[in-house]
Amino acid sequence: MDKAKEAVATTAGLRGVAAASSSISDVNGDKGELIYQGYDIHDLAQQSTFEEVVFLLWHKRLPTRAELEELKSSLAEHYDLSVEIVALLRTFPREADPIDVLRTAVSALEFHDSTARDLSRAASLKTAIKLTAQFPALVAASDRLRRGLEPIKANKGQNIATNFLYLLRGELPSAEEAHIFDVCLILHADHELNASTFAARVIAGTLATMYAAVTGAIAALSGPLHGGANTQVMKTLLEIGEVDNVESYIKKALAEKRKIMGFGHAVYRTEDPRATHLRQFSKELGEQAGDTKWYEMSRKVEEVMKREKGLNANVDFFSASVYYMMGIPLDLYTPIFAVSRISGWTGHILEQYADNKLIRPRAEYIGARDLTYVPIDERA
Ligand SMILES: CC(C)(COP(=O)(O)OP(=O)(O)OC[C@H]1O[C@@H](n2cnc3c(N)ncnc32)[C@H](O)[C@@H]1OP(=O)(O)O)[C@@H](O)C(=O)NCCC(=O)NCCS
Repeated sequence: MDKAKEAVATTAGLRGVAAASSSISDVNGDKGELIYQGYDIHDLAQQSTFEEVVFLLWHKRLPTRAELEELKSSLAEHYDLSVEIVALLRTFPREADPIDVLRTAVSALEFHDSTARDLSRAASLKTAIKLTAQFPALVAASDRLRRGLEPIKANKGQNIATNFLYLLRGELPSAEEAHIFDVCLILHADHELNASTFAARVIAGTLATMYAAVTGAIAALSGPLHGGANTQVMKTLLEIGEVDNVESYIKKALAEKRKIMGFGHAVYRTEDPRATHLRQFSKELGEQAGDTKWYEMSRKVEEVMKREKGLNANVDFFSASVYYMMGIPLDLYTPIFAVSRISGWTGHILEQYADNKLIRPRAEYIGARDLTYVPIDERA
């Protein structure tokens, strides 16, 4: 065997392989624990805000009040889209998938940033601020345009969660809804070396720009096995239709070897700690609306999946009914994941730039060797 490959152990899907050192977040799959920079996700979900978590992921510590205010005002400065980007959004087909629209628009943002190729920490932090501030506006504006509505200006006094819902609907959400959405953003902010974050680090590792790395991360997030799962969850719930149909629907799907989206995880072997909060929000929103149907159906799906397959709900399962009850269109669930995860992606890109090594693993070659080349006219 090639000497350089001796240390290589083939692991399908790189499961269990530590492919980077990071202090940003850690998942303990056996205990069902998630920490961001040392802080337990439950503490952050109960006590923190998304902007505070953004600071934590980028600076590896919680902000002082003054630092938090400074971050919020820097974000607000970049809340609105440029005329050029809105003009670009208008050229996209109305039926385009919003996550693909986001990916293409983010790639184009780089053309309007003269500092994009400056990978110093100071310049990269500014890019991270711009990206984090622009994501909600991009998602909301493209949704309004496809509905035949004009994008509206941001409400600069509001945080990202409130502002996103405002940009989408044209009216401010209730304080409770804004709080639930803010916690959703906290819960999705980072998750160690998930597929999209790994993609971002691989791209950043070539010293490509932050825009390039984030564009690749959005592409990775879009797949149904990753961030695309939440939309599929709601489609499944709508297809099931009633609590009474759950048992037969799930059993049939499993018998046909179909995967039920929102269940199972590459790392967690027990409850995904993020699902704990989202389950509660699903219940609360249902009770407030006087219709707990989606929550009850979700609980029943959970029960059947646990019994039949021993699988737990992941972050995407209850976020689906939460967003549905907030009246958010199904195909925006994955872009909303990105509105949050941009904080983690940029944190990881900053970390990668700070101590960069090109990421270039080896492959276990399983093809043929020593074949004799046959000229094309002599081939059978
Ligand atoms: C997340 C996921 C890709 C992790 O998968 P993994 O650790 O690579 O495990 P595998 O896909 O190899 O699945 C292992 C076994 O569990 C089954 N399984 C895993 N997730 C399942 C699901 N959601 N529904 C039904 N069966 C599932 C597989 O069919 C497989 O069974 P088998 O051994 O009988 O073939 C997988 O659980 C999945 O596809 N879930 C649905 C998509 C989803 O919710 N993604 C968001 C993740 S946050």
